[in-house]
Amino acid sequence: MRRAKLSRRTIGLIVALAVACTAAACSRSDEPPVVTGAGTAGDAGPAAAVIGTLPDGTTVERFTLRNATGMEVTLATLGAAIHSIRTPDRSGALGDVVLGFETLDQWVANPPYFGVIVGRYANRIAGGRFTLDGTTYTLATNDGPNHLHGGTRGFDKVVWQAEPLSTAGGQAVRFSYVSPDGEEGYPGTLTVNVTYTLTDDNELRLDYEAATDAPTVVNLSNHAYFNLAGDGTVLDHELQIDADRYTPVDATLIPTGELAPVEGTPFDFRSPTPIGARIDADHEQIAIGGGYDHNFVLNGTSGDLRTVVRVYEPTSGRTLEVDTTEPGLQFYSGNFGSPIEGPGGRTYPRHAGFCLETQHFPDSPNQPSFPSTVLRPGETFTSTTVFRFGVRP
Ligand code: GLA
Repeated sequence: MRRAKLSRRTIGLIVALAVACTAAACSRSDEPPVVTGAGTAGDAGPAAAVIGTLPDGTTVERFTLRNATGMEVTLATLGAAIHSIRTPDRSGALGDVVLGFETLDQWVANPPYFGVIVGRYANRIAGGRFTLDGTTYTLATNDGPNHLHGGTRGFDKVVWQAEPLSTAGGQAVRFSYVSPDGEEGYPGTLTVNVTYTLTDDNELRLDYEAATDAPTVVNLSNHAYFNLAGDGTVLDHELQIDADRYTPVDATLIPTGELAPVEGTPFDFRSPTPIGARIDADHEQIAIGGGYDHNFVLNGTSGDLRTVVRVYEPTSGRTLEVDTTEPGLQFYSGNFGSPIEGPGGRTYPRHAGFCLETQHFPDSPNQPSFPSTVLRPGETFTSTTVFRFGVRP
């Protein structure tokens, strides 16, 4: 792993910080950053800072990526997570467009999965079990009767290795994690890389890669919650999803197997529609989700990088477009049961953010008609998603 050289002073600061954080509590992320990497204009890669230490002694680092237009993205090794995305509004003022926390303790607990990579299997596997090549595997049931987002210690809870990079496409960080055979019940040693690149076109590009030494299943996504206004709820955001069908779910949010037309339902986002317009509609699927918490069957060819989502927020003028190679998209309207404490004394209400989780369909290991999530030795799983930010007058 390539790492920037550390100065003596920096090493001293790291040691001091580590000593200060030996107790169970982690340091606050608003403390002055300790620079451990490169990071000024013209150098090798994004700036790095230690933001605290976990009870087991592992340090958590945060990287700041910048581009030529002044956009800024922070990423952390805990969960290979997006901590902030600062983009200009139509008057040029930078604002954070994702939900986040203030302290490392909050990032460690993170019940809503703010910003993290979810895996080995994003979303649900029914009953926490699946059969592959005649063997049945049992996983944690951490969401009622089902398995959710990789289990009790999924990819969101582990500290990834990080390599800051300066690429032709822009500043980048490559996160890597080796998930041991049997972790959370899954077969095979899974080696995963997720590279985030911030381009000068205000795109945050995520390239995922995975390989295994035994047959397994894999489905990776990012769980950032967007709010392009930077405040309030997202109900006035206008959303367009290029999907003619979605996967209706049972009462425990497992797909029934049907690919139902969106036509004539609150799930028809084929033309731009405010998220809040039909979020309380009298529709069985809306009632089950407590709003939107459904997988959309994206139009176009899975494997081709194509634009599938467009969002516009009228007050700030900010826009977001999403390109992906994935066949599906979990649109989750942040249906929090109770408000969540955010940074700076802020409280995030229900629908304070929405997730656009590009992915394979939930419960695919138990649904033979869905695109396969099986990965075998010798194969490489690859997937790309691009979040492109802009403004409209
Ligand atoms: C996904 C799920 C939701 C919820 C969130 C995490 O979007 O589909 O039901 O579990 O993750 O809060």
